Amino acid sequence: MTKAIVIDKTGGPDALQWKDIQVGEPGEGQVRIRHTAIGLNYIDVYMRSGLYPIPMPGGLGLEAAGVIEAVGSGVSHVKIGDRVAYAGGPPGAYAETRVMPAIPLVKLPDNVSDQQAAALLLKGMTVQFLIRRTYKVKAGETVLLHAAAGGVGLIACQWLKALGVTVIGTVSNEEKAALAKANGCTHTVLYTKENFAERVRELTNGAGVPVVYDSVGKVTWEDSLSCLQPLGLMVSFGNTSGPVPPVNIGQLAAKGSLFVTRPALATYTAKPDDLQATAADLFDAMASGKVKAEIAQTFPLKDAADAHRALEGSKTVGSTVLIP
Ligand SMILES: NC(=O)c1ccc[n+]([C@@H]2O[C@H](COP(=O)([O-])OP(=O)(O)OC[C@H]3O[C@@H](n4cnc5c(N)ncnc54)[C@H](OP(=O)(O)O)[C@@H]3O)[C@@H](O)[C@H]2O)c1
Repeated sequence: MTKAIVIDKTGGPDALQWKDIQVGEPGEGQVRIRHTAIGLNYIDVYMRSGLYPIPMPGGLGLEAAGVIEAVGSGVSHVKIGDRVAYAGGPPGAYAETRVMPAIPLVKLPDNVSDQQAAALLLKGMTVQFLIRRTYKVKAGETVLLHAAAGGVGLIACQWLKALGVTVIGTVSNEEKAALAKANGCTHTVLYTKENFAERVRELTNGAGVPVVYDSVGKVTWEDSLSCLQPLGLMVSFGNTSGPVPPVNIGQLAAKGSLFVTRPALATYTAKPDDLQATAADLFDAMASGKVKAEIAQTFPLKDAADAHRALEGSKTVGSTVLIP
């Protein structure tokens, strides 16, 4: 018997229930893992609310770190006793112990603690693919990054600064602006007080930016397109304000022959080699000090509903970890 957060039907944070569950032995290609730290991510909110459908009743959560307790047949890249983390696979990370496929697991280097891994693996690998693969930023460029003081946002600010990129970051208040700046954001824009598209034009002397990293979705879509240079790339990678409404493709021509992509970490790490390389690049960035592994908030796992309220209410900054 183990304890886990279980969800029977979509809804608000109250849909999360702390329950006893049975955990069996791992089958072929599976492991049993005892979690020591669990990552909180906005995708957990989309899955809980029903925006991204998941099997119910079932578990929630895609990211955790812990120790391998048992290994099924056919698993070769991890063994019993290994310290590992993952950022993908079927939902169910909000549990003390679980059985899951071995494929998403990466071994943790000695210099990365379990809590740091749970705080950074999903968000840090997301930043890695966004700035090294979706659009490979170059030193001297200026980019627009929304939610700059959030979990993905603070990691992106740090990594982009280390690459010599000027970051214009949007935030909702002064405290978040100060935090984003302390993490490498060059210019902060308080979108609650000023129009961010106008500020981007001012800060770039009218030129606009070659890429926008937009995780806010519905409410920022139009103005984000207006921030782009001709042939610029709109990277729409989240829906914190709701999904982007159907797009008039002619608008992309009118605004300067723009490109749009809607990338997902799952695609960029679907091949085991890509997953291991993306994680290795993140761990290197952490080891070299380009990216700091900081945890801004922790909650007991049983209080995951409170963590969801904080994340959805824009009350969190940086990364949040649930402790089993
Ligand atoms: N595509 C992918 O593979 C991928 C992977 C990881 C994450 N993501 C996306 O990246 C985004 C960031 O994820 P995260 O876990 O690091 O969350 P987060 O950025 O820590 O939290 C969301 C932040 O978004 C901002 N925000 C703006 N409008 C909002 C609204 N209407 N409601 C709530 N928040 C709003 C808030 O910051 P302010 O108070 O400053 O506005 C809030 O703190 C999410 O959209 C997530 O889905 C995508």
